Amino acid sequence: MRFEPLRYEHLRQMAEIEKEAFDMPWSENMFIPEVNSENATYIVGTRGEEVICYGGFHSVLDEAHITNIAVKRSERGKGIGRFLMSALISKAKEKGARCISLEVKTTNKVAISMYESFGFEVAGVRKRYYNNLFDAYVMRLETEERASSDIG
Ligand SMILES: CC(C)(COP(=O)(O)OP(=O)(O)OC[C@H]1O[C@@H](n2cnc3c(N)ncnc32)[C@H](O)[C@@H]1OP(=O)(O)O)[C@@H](O)C(=O)NCCC(=O)NCCS
Repeated sequence: MRFEPLRYEHLRQMAEIEKEAFDMPWSENMFIPEVNSENATYIVGTRGEEVICYGGFHSVLDEAHITNIAVKRSERGKGIGRFLMSALISKAKEKGARCISLEVKTTNKVAISMYESFGFEVAGVRKRYYNNLFDAYVMRLETEERASSDIG
């Protein structure tokens, strides 16, 4: 598997992975603005033409907010999510993020356990965040990086 930046060609398969991963999946169209957005950084894991996983974040000032992270169902539990998450954290640090945040369904034990293993902590709860039904934890990771504007 290799990691590459987001391209339009990935979107159809990403939308398929979204459907098997989430109650409120992003459609292909929802990803389109992400491809050329200056604030968005995505990493797509591919094997040949096949999309295996993807994750992305939006940079706002010194914070990176993770928008999506998913691994194709048939490829889960093999360490790919952890590999992807490490790559996203490194990219966010490269871009000067002091803090990385995300929302996760409070019942998503697998994802929560993965985030905690990277040092993310629950910072709050958003009630009925998903489908106006399910609660989300807001999780945050403080990084040690300094924004480039602070250097010198
Ligand atoms: C969450 C997700 C990205 C993890 O990817 P993955 O490739 O399956 O995860 P990995 O095999 O790399 O495992 C990473 C960690 O997740 C946790 N984990 C993975 N499978 C697990 C399981 N069956 N039960 C409990 N924890 C599990 C563990 O903490 C694991 O770390 P460890 O192997 O060192 O114990 C993947 O399950 C997924 O795409 N889920 C659907 C989409 C989703 O929920 N995204 C997160 C939205 S906020």
